[in-house]
Amino acid sequence: MANVLFIKANGLPAERSVSVKLYEEFLKNYTASNPSDTITELDLFQADLPYYDATMMSGLYKESIGETLTEDEARLAKVANGYLEQFLAADKVVMAFPLWNFSIPAQFLTYLFYLNQAGKTFKYTAEGPVGLVTNKEVVLLNARGGIYSDGPMANWEMSLNYVKNILTHFGITNPQTVVVEGHHAVADQAQDLIAAGVEKAANLANTF
Ligand SMILES: Cc1cc2nc3c(=O)[nH]c(=O)nc-3n(C[C@H](O)[C@H](O)[C@H](O)COP(=O)(O)O)c2cc1C
Repeated sequence: MANVLFIKANGLPAERSVSVKLYEEFLKNYTASNPSDTITELDLFQADLPYYDATMMSGLYKESIGETLTEDEARLAKVANGYLEQFLAADKVVMAFPLWNFSIPAQFLTYLFYLNQAGKTFKYTAEGPVGLVTNKEVVLLNARGGIYSDGPMANWEMSLNYVKNILTHFGITNPQTVVVEGHHAVADQAQDLIAAGVEKAANLANTF
């Protein structure tokens, strides 16, 4: 019986969002195939995600060296650590997110900053940072209107690549991915591109 965390980084409804379509299709199929798993949904557009500001940073730092935190520092450190603990407790994690302005939504970036804590998800060594999260299976569901898998825009893809690099930094090197791309660039093929992605998400959900 696995503990599975579903993270949705888009506030649009499924009718208007490809990544949310992938998310819902994955969730529906996964739940049907794994009825005894514990599923937790985290909607980052509904969540309380204060910016990673100086007070939060100072709180997390003081905590790491055993100093006393102010009330505000303690409150903000607790927010970040709550999300971090939830992530660490999951056996499997599914993350659905769009490419926006070549990157990811600010809510998702803030969330990933919470997770990125030395001594928790990675550690510093003389040879460079080493990931500490080695017991987790991850699926990434991503949608991007242009074409980035190949061609002149490939270097501009800082959505899926960013998330994969952060996960690698945590020690998670083998996420499985479903990507729908090009449905704006090649608009006359949009329906087929999206349908193929939704089918791939359903199939992956049944084997994940
Ligand atoms: C705010 C915003 C920024 C976007 N920026 C880009 C972009 O830089 N490159 C691109 O190819 N598509 C861009 N798009 C199109 C999205 O990648 C496309 O709509 C994709 O399907 C987003 O996922 P969603 O359908 O789940 O919202 C953008 C869309 C929005 C709403």
